[in-house]
Amino acid sequence: MAKQKQTTYGYSRKVLEVFRHPKNIGEIKNPDGFGLVGNPRCGDTMSMYLKISKDGEDRIEDIKIKTFGCLGAISSSSILTEMVKGKTIGDALRVTKDDVIKKLGGLPPIKVHCSVLSVDALKEAIYDYYKRKGRKIPKDLEEVHKHNLQVRESIEHMH
Ligand code: FES
Repeated sequence: MAKQKQTTYGYSRKVLEVFRHPKNIGEIKNPDGFGLVGNPRCGDTMSMYLKISKDGEDRIEDIKIKTFGCLGAISSSSILTEMVKGKTIGDALRVTKDDVIKKLGGLPPIKVHCSVLSVDALKEAIYDYYKRKGRKIPKDLEEVHKHNLQVRESIEHMH
């Protein structure tokens, strides 16, 4: 895990900078893929919208997020969108929570689960894209999807 450059709040300068100026916020009308995930511990939610290229390369042409969550969730999801925009789906799926944390200059250990949320939102949106296209869905995406459905149900009971 990346060594954290701490500030007084335990967050790196990069996290605070991204949180103050998050990128790719909003929605995409008629997305090619959509993912909604939640965190059962805190009830925070994240929606991710994808526009995928039609040239057969499956490139992420556009990506937007709506995050109702903490500083860690907002900064993780924002930086993830920047990391995967322009990448093929295959390359985007290789981005891990550790890559996100590293790019943020670290996260306090208690906030690591917030970075997982952003990676799961991307996987959920890609799952949705594959489903819409009638493609074979990889086993790990099926598992993430099943987990997300259970978590969403438990969050709905919280609200
Ligand atoms: S505390 Fe809820 S996602 Fe960070």
